Amino acid sequence: MRRGPEPLGGLHPLLAGRFSPYRFDPAGGVGDEALRLLLEAARWAPSAGNAQPWGFFTGRPGEPGHARVVPYLAPSAARWAVDAGLLVVTLARRHVGATELLYSEFADYDLGQAVAHMTVQAQAMGLAAHQFRAFDLEGLTKELDPAPGWAVVSMVALGRAADAPPETRERRGVDELLAAPWAPAE
Ligand SMILES: Cc1cc2nc3c(=O)[nH]c(=O)nc-3n(C[C@H](O)[C@H](O)[C@H](O)COP(=O)(O)O)c2cc1C
Repeated sequence: MRRGPEPLGGLHPLLAGRFSPYRFDPAGGVGDEALRLLLEAARWAPSAGNAQPWGFFTGRPGEPGHARVVPYLAPSAARWAVDAGLLVVTLARRHVGATELLYSEFADYDLGQAVAHMTVQAQAMGLAAHQFRAFDLEGLTKELDPAPGWAVVSMVALGRAADAPPETRERRGVDELLAAPWAPAE
């Protein structure tokens, strides 16, 4: 697999090789077993108090679920997401029913981690994932009408990448991560 010029030596190939493609192969379908494994990967993610505050609405081209979400894609995402073999809408359980009581303080954090598991599992199966926010959140929320306490958070397009990884991938340096915004010791 080709990747950008930044030295990623030592990083696990599944992490080094992952990127978010801007083109998917429309012939690269996601089969039932692949879909099951993607959801299993999310299922086994850790979560605060093992609350597992995540839910996934899925649709593959030709399935009713796909037709339900495609109209809400922003044009910027529709260009590539409709060719993906699978669209996933991610939901977090933030509150207890219709109350203001938090179901989990870490609901979105845990959901993100479950999606990270899903993306790495995808990479291991030769699939690529592109997470995105470029959709009509209000419209899609109305369409899916999640149970009280649940919120639509993001979408993920998964399938066979038709893109090569970009030549360069921008990242802040590790030094910068270690110089994060805390106050120095007195
Ligand atoms: C929560 C989230 C929302 C994102 N939203 C968008 C989006 O709306 N459109 C888009 O093209 N990419 C979106 N991305 C993809 C990021 O732009 C991408 O992960 C980042 O540029 C790093 O590139 P890489 O994944 O190829 O390493 C999103 C990623 C995440 C995690």
